[in-house]
Amino acid sequence: MPEKTARDITFVTCTAPVNIAVIKYWGKRDNDLILPVNSSLSVTLHQDQLKSTTTVACSAHFKEDRIWLNGKEENINQPRLQSCLKEIRRLVRKRRSDGDTSTDVLSLSHKVHICSENNFPTAAGLASSAAGYACLVYTLSRLLGVEGELSAIARQGSGSACRSMYGGFVQWHMGMQADGKDSVAEQVEPESHWPELRILILVVSAERKPVGSTAGMQTSVETSSLLKHRAQAVVSTRMDEMILAIRQRDFSTFGELTMRDSNQFHAICLDTYPPIFYLNDVSRRIISLVHRYNHHYRETRVAYTFDAGPNAVIYTLQQHVSEFVQVVTHFFPPETNGGEFLKGLPVGSVSLSDELTRAIGLEPLPKGISYIISTKSGPGPQTVEDTSLHLLGPDGLPK
Ligand code: DP6
Repeated sequence: MPEKTARDITFVTCTAPVNIAVIKYWGKRDNDLILPVNSSLSVTLHQDQLKSTTTVACSAHFKEDRIWLNGKEENINQPRLQSCLKEIRRLVRKRRSDGDTSTDVLSLSHKVHICSENNFPTAAGLASSAAGYACLVYTLSRLLGVEGELSAIARQGSGSACRSMYGGFVQWHMGMQADGKDSVAEQVEPESHWPELRILILVVSAERKPVGSTAGMQTSVETSSLLKHRAQAVVSTRMDEMILAIRQRDFSTFGELTMRDSNQFHAICLDTYPPIFYLNDVSRRIISLVHRYNHHYRETRVAYTFDAGPNAVIYTLQQHVSEFVQVVTHFFPPETNGGEFLKGLPVGSVSLSDELTRAIGLEPLPKGISYIISTKSGPGPQTVEDTSLHLLGPDGLPK
C-alpha cells in the first residue's frame, strides 16, 4: 500500500531486476514505440545481487515532475521517460472512465518525484536501463493503483526493460500490430523451474565506452543484411528450440543456442557499416576458454553471452560453477590488492587438475577480468514494505 505522510505526500518504493538475453533483441522496426524486428528471450537475474530501487512520491504540493538517478537530478523531459509517464497516466484515466474509482486517492494532476538507484556500479557496464525502466513503470503502477499490460509501457522506456517485468525465463513477443499493443513480455517459466542454473558475470576491464545499443542497433537496421536474414529466417526456429530446452532443463542445448545467438549478434555488429566492435581481446579469450573447457569434457557445461560491451555473462549448472570459477581465476589471475574477486553467491572451492589446465592450454592474462558476480535466476519486480527504505525523505527530496 502507498504510504501517506503528514505533509500529504504519498510514497511507494519498489525494486526490479536486470535480465540477460539468450536470444538477443537487436533492431527496431519502430523507433518511437520501440518495436523490435525479432522476438527475444532472457533470464531474469536475482535481485540479491543486481537490482534497481525506485521511490516515487506524489503530492498536490509538488510543482513539477522531477527525477534523480544515482544521486543526480536528470532531465525529466527525456522522450522515453515522458512516454512511460504518459502511458501510465493514460491507463489511470482509462480505468476511471471504465468506472473504477479505486485510484481516486491520487489526482492525475498531481506531480511526481522519482528517485532511482542501482545496487551495482554503473562502471560494471551492465545494462542498467532495463532494470531502471522496469522499476519506474512498476513503482508508478503501484502508486497509482493500476494493473494491465505494464510490459508494453516499460518497453517504451527501453526495449529490454519489458523482459524485466517478470522473473525467471521471459520471452518478448515482437508482435505484429503497428500500435505495439501485442509487443509484450511473457513469462515462459518461473525462476523456480531450473534452480540448478547459475550465472556468472565476468566484469572485463574496458578502457573505452562502447557505442550505445540504441545508436548501434539503428545503424545495424540501416546497413546489415545479416540482421534481416536473422529476423526472417533464424529467430523463430531458434526460439522454439530454446523454449523446449528450458522446459526440459536441457543445458547442453540451452548453452549451445545461447552461444550461437550471442555470436550471431556480434556477427551482425561486424556486418554493420561502419562496423561496431563490442568484444575485446579479453572477451575473445573468454570465448576460447569456454570452448576449450567444454571440449575437454566433450559436453557443453558452460555457455557465454555478450551484450553491447566486453563483459561476459556465463550460464552454467551448480555442479560445475566452482570448477569453472577456478579455471577463470587461473587463466585471468586477479589483481591482488585486497578487493574481492568473487562477489555474490558463494561457489565453494575445488582444486584444479593439471590435466584440465593443460588441456585448456591458454596463456594466463593477469588482470583481464576485474571481478566476478555470481548469481542465479530470480523473481520480477517487488514492492518494498519497509518505509525506512524510501529513497525520498519526508520533504519529497532525495535523502
Ligand atoms: C544487446 O534495450 O538497451 O542488450 O530499446 O534502444 O533502449 P533500447 O535498447 P536496449 O538494447 C538491449 C540490447 C542487448 C540485447 C538484449 O538485451 O536483448
